Amino acid sequence: MMELNPVVDAEHLMREFEELAGFSDAEPPAVTRVVFTETDLRARQFLKESCAHAGLLVREDALGNTFARWEGTNPALPAVGTGSHMDAIPHSGRFDGTVGVLGGLEALRALRETGFQPSRSLELLIFTSEEPTRFGLGCLGSRALSGAADLGALDRMVDKEGRSLEQVRTAAGFTGPLTAVTLPDSYYSAFVELHIEQGPLLERNGVPIGAVTAIAAPAALRVKFEGTGGHAGAVLMPDRHDALCAAAELILDVEKSARSTGSPDTVATVGFCSVHPGASNSIPSRVTVEVDIRDIALAPRNQVVADVKHVVAEMAARRGLQAGVEILNADPPATMAPPIVDAVLAVCSQLGIACQRMVSRAYHDSLYMARICPTGMIFIPCRAGVSHRPDEFASPEAITQGVQVLALTLAKLSSD
Ligand code: GLV
Ligand code: MN
Ligand code: MN
Repeated sequence: MMELNPVVDAEHLMREFEELAGFSDAEPPAVTRVVFTETDLRARQFLKESCAHAGLLVREDALGNTFARWEGTNPALPAVGTGSHMDAIPHSGRFDGTVGVLGGLEALRALRETGFQPSRSLELLIFTSEEPTRFGLGCLGSRALSGAADLGALDRMVDKEGRSLEQVRTAAGFTGPLTAVTLPDSYYSAFVELHIEQGPLLERNGVPIGAVTAIAAPAALRVKFEGTGGHAGAVLMPDRHDALCAAAELILDVEKSARSTGSPDTVATVGFCSVHPGASNSIPSRVTVEVDIRDIALAPRNQVVADVKHVVAEMAARRGLQAGVEILNADPPATMAPPIVDAVLAVCSQLGIACQRMVSRAYHDSLYMARICPTGMIFIPCRAGVSHRPDEFASPEAITQGVQVLALTLAKLSSD
């Protein structure tokens, strides 16, 4: 095993990134690929064909999670998984998630080329909707796979057009009860996700590989304000119950709260706001905002969640409007399994590549995979740490090195 030398076909891989980025609802270089849209379904088809072409056995579950399997010589043993997501938030880039999907596929292809035979089956997983774009909740696929979600509630969630997850997944051809999605116990003995860092540390330190030790705790809240609409010229200021003014006050409060937890790791963002009826000469009567709150530690994260609830209640009373806070998710942080972190470090040392331990501030499907099997993540640098933007960039060299490290890590984990 030690002398394995998987060769990454960087040219082919970069062509696949180019092709996948073409499945987008935004003008290049931006990428928008939202779960279960026509574009998403065409991208899935492309990926399934690529997996089948690589000789992998492809299956999909009722939620559209896609598994591409390379059968091991001992297929009864729990498998070793790798993978990530291929959905992309509005107006983002081409590397978030896809590095773990296309890179994971290339790792399996490169390993196969060496003549390596895994003892445990190796499986590439393409998770459904890691991004919260459509339903307001991230990691849909991995939540369901890991048994962490209330599956009935998940299926009843509605998108911004009022269509339920059940309706849109069925229309996309993914039918059947979600209960069948949850993986049986001991399905995987290990899971490793390759991803861009989405932060600046690796590039700044000139280190090509990060071995992730923990994933920060995310929470997402949906706040709805219901005030009184009316004519922008006719209703005098003392008589107003403007839902957008309430939301504006909340947004600034979220910023203040995140800055005052005492933890440098607390971050909070309001990245979505919808205004009804949305006309310049009409007083906003209904406003929905979504608040994203994170920290590596649970206490400061929860402090901001509590602040939001408190401020919303106080403000609704003061401004004379209705308001409600819905907790979409409030996930605990995840710890990566030391044996997987050690395997990544050992591979890097074997290859003579520098590697640093680090925390992931972004969330990933690994947050949920860590609940059901020893899990680890491999980070590669991305330019200036930029992500969730069209100018997100990871160099072919960085990706190639990440794929090499992934391939050898998978070889190690699937050999016993
Ligand atoms: C995932 O995209 C995240 O928002 O961390
Ligand atoms: Mn993302
Ligand atoms: Mn991602």
